[in-house]
Amino acid sequence: MRCVIFDLDGTLTQSEEGIFNCVRYAAEKLGFPCPDAATLHKFVGPPLQYSFQEYMGMDEAMAQRAVTTYRERYTVVGLFENRVYPGIRRLLRTLKREGWYIGIATGKPQGPAERIIQHFGLSRYFDKIVGPTGSIGAEKDWLIRSALPEAYDEAWMVGDRKFDIEGGKAVGIRTIGVGYGYGDEAELRTAGCDVYAPTVQDVIDALCPGAAVPQGAFLSIEGLDGSGKTTQINLITDAMDRYGFEVQHSREPGGCKVSEAIRQVLLDVNNVGMDGVTEAILYAAARAQHVREVIRPAVAAGKVLLCDRFVDSSVAYQGGGRQLGVQRILDINAPAVDGTLPMATIYLDIDHETSLKRRSAASTLDRIEMEADSFHARTEAAYRELIERDPQRFIVVDATQTPEEIGRQVAEQVLARLMEAEA
Ligand code: TYD
Repeated sequence: MRCVIFDLDGTLTQSEEGIFNCVRYAAEKLGFPCPDAATLHKFVGPPLQYSFQEYMGMDEAMAQRAVTTYRERYTVVGLFENRVYPGIRRLLRTLKREGWYIGIATGKPQGPAERIIQHFGLSRYFDKIVGPTGSIGAEKDWLIRSALPEAYDEAWMVGDRKFDIEGGKAVGIRTIGVGYGYGDEAELRTAGCDVYAPTVQDVIDALCPGAAVPQGAFLSIEGLDGSGKTTQINLITDAMDRYGFEVQHSREPGGCKVSEAIRQVLLDVNNVGMDGVTEAILYAAARAQHVREVIRPAVAAGKVLLCDRFVDSSVAYQGGGRQLGVQRILDINAPAVDGTLPMATIYLDIDHETSLKRRSAASTLDRIEMEADSFHARTEAAYRELIERDPQRFIVVDATQTPEEIGRQVAEQVLARLMEAEA
């Protein structure tokens, strides 16, 4: 059996945001000035009480109170103010597929470590998670030994600090020092790592050379003009990024050179005489190029491709708005899409009246946005029909709420679907 044991902080996840926020919280509660960025950075790694005394000039009793205050916030929210490094999900999926045994040996207490892994939907990848549990000592080599199975053919320890490398060597297994965490190259090389990996991709190359890349996912976002797609794309991207999904954006019509050129023609206000069928074919033509040049390669590279509009827009705007009919639009688009459809589609739900109000506030309108309200009313009706036909694929969110609330609801549902698809 091939085994790999990971350190958590600085190797799988980046935990400083939660640490910084909790130090700030403790300082404020106890009436100390808010520490600057350089001071906050020093808190990552050493024991908390030591840091409060050493870096903020507290006496022992005050530092103990600060630790208690810190924990008050940490156990509830700070723990989850954490990010999975980009590429980690791809690394874990690749290892699992190749049949590796995967463990964690962390200096973080075992309970919180398990909760973090669970929170990010990563539990399924790990055979064993080991961290200090109260009375038991926390020497890294002991943790690593406990995380390993009884017998193995090949084993590696992957970590970002010298303690991880020294621990791995003490256990007699091979070691990878990662350069994207909290330690630097000199520290890891001096500790004697067998492989120095500046990026997550280098870890993949070291452990699974030549392994097939697990498929990513294709998501689209739809809605009437003025539904707030751009804001939501940014919010949902941040959420996916936090969970370690590698997100790539694109848009339709457009997304690559040829399709952006077609976009110019489509949205040009001077092209008033464009026939509806011409318009539908042009949207499909732009899509054909985009599917092949951008969407498929991104998904094949393990990315989550988030596309601002896709074929549903054609069905709604040309099928409904232009009254060409749903089936005709699907027929025109069949060779363009050629079976490539989004795993999930976010629909930002506003009605055509709200869309009109929001469009009137915009300074410039493109050829489609300038259409009469009746056009947008038909577009809305066609969207509703699409959602009714395919309720599983659509994530429908009331887009008249605050951007933060919409973002929260979208993120929750999108993340759940992405994690489910990884299983
Ligand atoms: P969009 O990029 O959302 O506009 P903006 O960047 O100005 O917010 O979309 C451009 C317009 O094209 C929009 O009004 C919807 C329309 N459209 C269609 O009519 N059919 C399609 O297939 C697509 C993709 C877009």
